[in-house]
Amino acid sequence: MADDASLPLAALPPLPDELAGLWRDLLGTEPPQDFASLVKSLPDALARATPALPPALCQELARHHAYLLAHEAYEAHERGITLPDTPLVLADFVRNTASVLRDAAALTGPAIRAGVPPSVLALIEASEAQLEGWCYREKSLFIARLVLEERPLVCVEVGVYGGRSLIPCAAALRHLGQGRIWGVEGWSGTLAVHDRTTDANDAWWGGLDFGPIKRAFLRFLADHDLVREVGILEAPSAAVDHLFPRIDYLHIDGSHARLAAAEDVLRYGRRVRPGGIILFDDAQWKTTTAARELLDEMAECVDILHQTEAPQNICAVYRRHDH
Ligand SMILES: C[S@@+](CC[C@H](N)C(=O)[O-])C[C@H]1O[C@@H](n2cnc3c(N)ncnc32)[C@H](O)[C@@H]1O
Repeated sequence: MADDASLPLAALPPLPDELAGLWRDLLGTEPPQDFASLVKSLPDALARATPALPPALCQELARHHAYLLAHEAYEAHERGITLPDTPLVLADFVRNTASVLRDAAALTGPAIRAGVPPSVLALIEASEAQLEGWCYREKSLFIARLVLEERPLVCVEVGVYGGRSLIPCAAALRHLGQGRIWGVEGWSGTLAVHDRTTDANDAWWGGLDFGPIKRAFLRFLADHDLVREVGILEAPSAAVDHLFPRIDYLHIDGSHARLAAAEDVLRYGRRVRPGGIILFDDAQWKTTTAARELLDEMAECVDILHQTEAPQNICAVYRRHDH
């Protein structure tokens, strides 16, 4: 078809009102105000999109974009020429973009709002329903988002119990397709009270039947196909630290006894690479004060998580010093 420069330039299609909200929620950047900036900013926005946006939806948006750019009607439009089908082609692009974003929001809304991919949120929800432990939703999401951002390869958790705080890390690693978390856990009452904390705490741990807790965790790993991302070291933490010459992500949540917590920090914290992450749970306990002081020597406290229902319970987040 011949270009006909005498036709008036096709009016640019208006962006539907809903597009701005969907764009902000799903792509996390300021939405485009008009058609030209939609076309211009889409590739960059897709490149920076939150990992919560499923790759298939990103690819679909990219496909619509590539189709538009390659269309002769759009090429003509860019040269200031309107072909008979130009208005339709431009409007189709806007409609298709809004439609994909609408589908994405319906499919992944809760996960997007939580800032994690749907598969990660699903595993966190399943772990809350099926596993024992103390990790609350906000902490789980924090761990998952942290792992998605930092992309650690060697992760270690000291003190697994039922796996509630290990699963968010494992789920994020599975989404990334790289890295492994090693859970160091004794599942033994004798070991748990080897160094004393308080009478009530020691009595609780000393009388606990770890069998069902451990079995549920191992079953969960098999049922949810997390066996590649998770390694288990059923041992006293002081016996296996030498296996990790370099750690990228460390979560210390083992014994809260003064000696044992400080020893975990010395044995494991020192193995965290410069810039690596250390989470230290129950940092407000009197018996973990010495451990925190040691952490303050080797790392910078960059965040404090407060348990939603009991804000006095805190998990301190550290980043290892560069030296
Ligand atoms: C507070 S719980 C871990 C909770 C878990 N991270 C969560 O968020 O649900 C502490 C765990 O550390 C384990 N533990 C205590 N002392 C240990 C040691 N010396 N070596 C290995 N594991 C130990 C206990 O068996 C217990 O399961």
